[in-house]
Amino acid sequence: MTHTADIRREGHKPTLLDLFCCAGGAGRGYERAGFTVTGVDNRPRPNYPFTFIQGDALTVLTSLIQSGEICRFTAIHASPPCQKRCALTVGTNQSRGWGGTHEDLVAPTRELLDASGLPYVIEQPDGKADVRKDVSLCGEMFGLGVLRHRNFELGGWTTVRPKHVRHRGYVRGWRHGEYRNGPYVAAYGEGGGKATVSEMQQAMGIDWTDVREELTEAIPPAYSEWLGRAFLTRATSGAVAA
Ligand SMILES: C[S@@+](CC[C@H](N)C(=O)[O-])C[C@H]1O[C@@H](n2cnc3c(N)ncnc32)[C@H](O)[C@@H]1O
Repeated sequence: MTHTADIRREGHKPTLLDLFCCAGGAGRGYERAGFTVTGVDNRPRPNYPFTFIQGDALTVLTSLIQSGEICRFTAIHASPPCQKRCALTVGTNQSRGWGGTHEDLVAPTRELLDASGLPYVIEQPDGKADVRKDVSLCGEMFGLGVLRHRNFELGGWTTVRPKHVRHRGYVRGWRHGEYRNGPYVAAYGEGGGKATVSEMQQAMGIDWTDVREELTEAIPPAYSEWLGRAFLTRATSGAVAA
Protein backbone atom coordinates (compact mmCIF):
# COMPACT_ATOMS: atom_id res chain seq x y z
CA MET A 1 0.00 0.00 0.00
CA THR A 2 1.55 3.32 -1.04
CA HIS A 3 0.98 6.07 1.50
CA THR A 4 2.50 9.51 1.51
CA ALA A 5 4.27 8.43 4.69
CA ASP A 6 5.85 5.56 2.71
CA ILE A 7 7.26 8.02 0.19
CA ARG A 8 8.90 9.78 3.07
CA ARG A 9 10.30 6.64 4.64
CA GLU A 10 11.32 4.60 1.61
CA GLY A 11 11.87 7.12 -1.18
CA HIS A 12 9.19 5.52 -3.44
CA LYS A 13 8.33 7.34 -6.63
CA PRO A 14 4.84 8.77 -5.99
CA THR A 15 2.00 7.73 -8.31
CA LEU A 16 -0.87 9.89 -9.51
CA LEU A 17 -4.28 8.91 -10.90
CA ASP A 18 -5.28 11.62 -13.40
CA LEU A 19 -9.09 11.45 -13.81
CA PHE A 20 -10.75 13.17 -16.82
CA CYS A 21 -7.21 13.43 -18.19
CA CYS A 22 -7.81 14.57 -21.82
CA ALA A 23 -4.37 14.90 -23.50
CA GLY A 24 -2.56 15.39 -20.19
CA GLY A 25 -1.98 19.09 -19.51
CA ALA A 26 -2.39 18.34 -15.81
CA GLY A 27 -0.68 14.95 -16.05
CA ARG A 28 2.47 16.45 -17.56
CA GLY A 29 2.89 18.88 -14.67
CA TYR A 30 2.57 16.11 -12.08
CA GLU A 31 5.13 14.08 -14.01
CA ARG A 32 7.52 17.04 -13.90
CA ALA A 33 6.95 17.27 -10.15
CA GLY A 34 8.11 13.66 -9.81
CA PHE A 35 4.97 11.48 -10.12
CA THR A 36 4.41 8.40 -12.26
CA VAL A 37 1.07 9.21 -13.91
CA THR A 38 -1.91 7.10 -15.08
CA GLY A 39 -4.79 8.85 -16.86
CA VAL A 40 -8.48 8.01 -17.38
CA ASP A 41 -10.73 9.56 -20.01
CA ASN A 42 -13.92 8.31 -21.66
CA ARG A 43 -12.67 9.28 -25.13
CA PRO A 44 -9.64 7.84 -26.92
CA ARG A 45 -6.70 10.13 -26.18
CA PRO A 46 -3.79 8.83 -28.29
CA ASN A 47 -1.79 11.97 -27.49
CA TYR A 48 -1.88 11.27 -23.74
CA PRO A 49 1.80 10.75 -22.92
CA PHE A 50 1.45 8.36 -19.96
CA THR A 51 -0.32 5.09 -19.11
CA PHE A 52 -3.91 5.52 -20.28
CA ILE A 53 -7.20 3.81 -19.38
CA GLN A 54 -10.20 4.56 -21.58
CA GLY A 55 -13.42 4.50 -19.56
CA ASP A 56 -15.85 6.42 -17.44
CA ALA A 57 -13.78 8.07 -14.70
CA LEU A 58 -16.27 7.37 -11.92
CA THR A 59 -16.69 3.72 -12.93
CA VAL A 60 -12.91 3.22 -13.08
CA LEU A 61 -12.44 4.93 -9.70
CA THR A 62 -15.23 2.86 -8.13
CA SER A 63 -13.68 -0.35 -9.35
CA LEU A 64 -10.19 0.67 -8.14
CA ILE A 65 -11.64 1.40 -4.69
CA GLN A 66 -13.66 -1.84 -4.55
CA SER A 67 -10.74 -4.00 -5.66
CA GLY A 68 -8.31 -2.28 -3.31
CA GLU A 69 -6.06 -1.41 -6.27
CA ILE A 70 -6.47 2.28 -5.44
CA CYS A 71 -3.65 1.70 -2.95
CA ARG A 72 -1.24 1.69 -5.90
CA PHE A 73 -1.71 5.46 -6.03
CA THR A 74 -0.37 8.20 -3.81
CA ALA A 75 -2.83 10.91 -4.83
CA ILE A 76 -5.63 11.66 -7.32
CA HIS A 77 -6.23 14.65 -9.59
CA ALA A 78 -9.70 15.16 -11.16
CA SER A 79 -10.79 17.66 -13.81
CA PRO A 80 -14.50 16.87 -14.29
CA PRO A 81 -15.99 18.65 -17.33
CA CYS A 82 -17.20 22.14 -16.60
CA GLN A 83 -20.04 22.88 -19.03
CA LYS A 84 -22.60 23.28 -16.24
CA ARG A 85 -21.75 26.74 -14.96
CA CYS A 86 -18.28 27.94 -15.89
CA ALA A 87 -17.70 31.66 -16.43
CA LEU A 88 -16.75 31.22 -20.08
CA THR A 89 -19.90 29.35 -21.09
CA VAL A 90 -22.64 30.40 -18.71
CA GLY A 91 -24.02 33.22 -20.91
CA THR A 92 -23.93 31.27 -24.16
CA ASN A 93 -25.17 28.05 -22.64
CA GLN A 94 -28.10 29.55 -20.80
CA SER A 95 -29.18 31.48 -23.87
CA ARG A 96 -29.24 28.12 -25.67
CA GLY A 97 -31.25 26.62 -22.85
CA TRP A 98 -28.83 23.88 -21.77
CA GLY A 99 -26.40 25.56 -19.38
CA GLY A 100 -28.28 24.72 -16.18
CA THR A 101 -29.10 21.12 -17.06
CA HIS A 102 -25.70 19.69 -18.04
CA GLU A 103 -24.75 16.79 -15.83
CA ASP A 104 -22.67 17.95 -12.87
CA LEU A 105 -19.89 15.48 -12.22
CA VAL A 106 -18.18 17.45 -9.45
CA ALA A 107 -20.31 16.23 -6.51
CA PRO A 108 -20.20 12.50 -7.39
CA THR A 109 -16.48 12.79 -8.15
CA ARG A 110 -15.81 14.38 -4.75
CA GLU A 111 -17.87 11.68 -3.00
CA LEU A 112 -15.77 8.92 -4.58
CA LEU A 113 -12.51 10.77 -3.95
CA ASP A 114 -13.43 11.01 -0.26
CA ALA A 115 -14.25 7.28 -0.28
CA SER A 116 -10.83 6.51 -1.81
CA GLY A 117 -9.09 7.73 1.35
CA LEU A 118 -6.36 9.33 -0.80
CA PRO A 119 -5.36 12.99 -0.89
CA TYR A 120 -6.79 14.69 -3.96
CA VAL A 121 -7.14 17.80 -6.10
CA ILE A 122 -10.32 18.81 -7.98
CA GLU A 123 -9.75 21.40 -10.71
CA GLN A 124 -12.39 23.76 -12.08
CA PRO A 125 -12.40 26.99 -14.10
CA ASP A 126 -13.45 30.24 -12.47
CA GLY A 127 -17.22 30.57 -12.18
CA LYS A 128 -17.88 27.11 -10.77
CA ALA A 129 -19.30 27.81 -7.35
CA ASP A 130 -19.22 24.20 -6.22
CA VAL A 131 -15.49 23.68 -5.67
CA ARG A 132 -13.61 25.28 -2.80
CA LYS A 133 -10.93 27.72 -3.94
CA ASP A 134 -8.17 26.32 -1.75
CA VAL A 135 -5.66 27.30 -4.44
CA SER A 136 -6.31 29.61 -7.40
CA LEU A 137 -3.74 29.82 -10.17
CA CYS A 138 -3.30 32.19 -13.11
CA GLY A 139 -0.91 32.00 -16.07
CA GLU A 140 0.76 35.26 -15.12
CA MET A 141 2.01 33.63 -11.91
CA PHE A 142 4.16 31.47 -14.20
CA GLY A 143 4.92 34.06 -16.90
CA LEU A 144 2.68 32.26 -19.42
CA GLY A 145 0.88 33.69 -22.45
CA VAL A 146 -2.59 32.77 -21.10
CA LEU A 147 -4.47 33.93 -18.01
CA ARG A 148 -6.61 30.78 -17.65
CA HIS A 149 -7.73 31.22 -14.03
CA ARG A 150 -8.32 27.87 -12.38
CA ASN A 151 -9.47 26.93 -8.88
CA PHE A 152 -8.34 23.82 -7.04
CA GLU A 153 -10.08 22.11 -4.14
CA LEU A 154 -7.65 20.10 -2.02
CA GLY A 155 -8.88 17.01 -0.18
CA GLY A 156 -6.86 15.49 2.66
CA TRP A 157 -3.99 17.97 2.40
CA THR A 158 -3.41 21.70 2.44
CA THR A 159 -0.84 24.16 1.22
CA VAL A 160 -0.22 27.86 1.40
CA ARG A 161 -2.51 29.79 -0.94
CA PRO A 162 -0.32 31.69 -3.43
CA LYS A 163 -1.05 35.36 -4.07
CA HIS A 164 -2.57 36.39 -7.39
CA VAL A 165 -0.29 38.68 -9.39
CA ARG A 166 -1.18 41.73 -11.45
CA HIS A 167 -1.81 41.05 -15.15
CA ARG A 168 0.56 42.69 -17.66
CA GLY A 169 -2.27 43.72 -19.98
CA TYR A 170 -5.31 42.43 -21.88
CA VAL A 171 -6.18 39.13 -23.48
CA ARG A 172 -5.88 39.71 -27.23
CA GLY A 173 -9.12 39.69 -29.19
CA TRP A 174 -12.59 41.06 -29.73
CA ARG A 175 -14.89 41.52 -26.76
CA HIS A 176 -18.22 43.39 -26.84
CA GLY A 177 -17.40 44.91 -30.24
CA GLU A 178 -13.98 46.17 -29.18
CA TYR A 179 -10.59 44.74 -30.26
CA ARG A 180 -7.81 44.78 -27.70
CA ASN A 181 -4.21 43.75 -28.09
CA GLY A 182 -2.30 42.28 -25.22
CA PRO A 183 0.31 39.80 -24.02
CA TYR A 184 -2.17 36.93 -23.48
CA VAL A 185 -4.13 34.80 -25.96
CA ALA A 186 -7.59 33.32 -25.50
CA ALA A 187 -7.10 29.55 -25.50
CA TYR A 188 -10.78 28.64 -25.87
CA GLY A 189 -13.40 28.84 -28.64
CA GLU A 190 -12.63 30.07 -32.13
CA GLY A 191 -12.72 33.36 -34.05
CA GLY A 192 -12.58 36.90 -32.66
CA GLY A 193 -8.79 36.93 -32.44
CA LYS A 194 -8.61 33.73 -30.38
CA ALA A 195 -5.37 31.77 -30.35
CA THR A 196 -4.21 29.52 -33.17
CA VAL A 197 -3.12 25.99 -32.31
CA SER A 198 0.57 26.94 -32.30
CA GLU A 199 -0.12 30.06 -30.20
CA MET A 200 -1.97 27.91 -27.64
CA GLN A 201 0.88 25.39 -27.55
CA GLN A 202 3.42 28.10 -26.94
CA ALA A 203 1.31 30.10 -24.48
CA MET A 204 0.59 27.09 -22.26
CA GLY A 205 3.82 25.14 -22.68
CA ILE A 206 2.21 22.13 -24.39
CA ASP A 207 4.01 20.61 -27.39
CA TRP A 208 2.77 17.00 -27.52
CA THR A 209 -0.69 17.61 -28.95
CA ASP A 210 -1.87 19.81 -31.81
CA VAL A 211 -5.53 18.91 -31.37
CA ARG A 212 -7.40 22.16 -30.82
CA GLU A 213 -10.02 20.63 -28.52
CA GLU A 214 -7.33 19.05 -26.33
CA LEU A 215 -5.50 22.36 -26.04
CA THR A 216 -8.66 24.30 -25.17
CA GLU A 217 -9.44 21.76 -22.41
CA ALA A 218 -5.96 21.65 -20.90
CA ILE A 219 -4.54 23.33 -17.87
CA PRO A 220 -0.97 24.55 -18.34
CA PRO A 221 1.41 21.91 -16.92
CA ALA A 222 3.02 24.67 -14.82
CA TYR A 223 -0.12 24.67 -12.61
CA SER A 224 -0.05 20.97 -11.76
CA GLU A 225 3.72 21.00 -11.44
CA TRP A 226 3.26 23.69 -8.77
CA LEU A 227 0.54 21.62 -7.05
CA GLY A 228 2.54 18.39 -7.31
CA ARG A 229 5.64 19.98 -5.81
CA ALA A 230 3.56 21.59 -3.04
CA PHE A 231 2.01 18.19 -2.28
CA LEU A 232 5.33 16.37 -2.24
CA THR A 233 6.92 19.01 -0.04
CA ARG A 234 4.09 18.54 2.47
CA ALA A 235 4.30 14.75 2.18
CA THR A 236 8.03 14.58 2.71
CA SER A 237 7.83 16.98 5.65
CA GLY A 238 5.12 14.80 7.22
CA ALA A 239 2.31 17.33 6.84
CA VAL A 240 -0.08 15.07 4.85
CA ALA A 241 -2.15 12.51 6.72
CA ALA A 242 -1.17 9.02 5.58
C1 LIG B 1 -11.54 19.67 -18.78
S1 LIG B 1 -10.99 18.24 -19.67
C2 LIG B 1 -9.60 17.76 -18.70
C3 LIG B 1 -8.33 18.49 -19.05
C4 LIG B 1 -7.07 17.89 -18.45
N1 LIG B 1 -7.07 17.95 -17.01
C5 LIG B 1 -5.82 18.61 -18.96
O1 LIG B 1 -5.24 19.39 -18.21
O2 LIG B 1 -5.45 18.38 -20.13
C6 LIG B 1 -12.23 17.08 -19.26
C7 LIG B 1 -12.06 15.71 -19.89
O3 LIG B 1 -13.04 14.84 -19.30
C8 LIG B 1 -13.41 13.88 -20.26
N2 LIG B 1 -14.66 13.29 -19.77
C9 LIG B 1 -15.91 13.80 -19.79
N3 LIG B 1 -16.77 12.98 -19.14
C10 LIG B 1 -16.02 11.93 -18.71
C11 LIG B 1 -16.32 10.76 -17.97
N4 LIG B 1 -17.56 10.50 -17.53
N5 LIG B 1 -15.32 9.90 -17.69
C12 LIG B 1 -14.05 10.13 -18.12
N6 LIG B 1 -13.71 11.23 -18.83
C13 LIG B 1 -14.67 12.12 -19.11
C14 LIG B 1 -13.48 14.64 -21.56
O4 LIG B 1 -13.30 13.76 -22.65
C15 LIG B 1 -12.29 15.62 -21.39
O5 LIG B 1 -11.15 15.07 -21.99
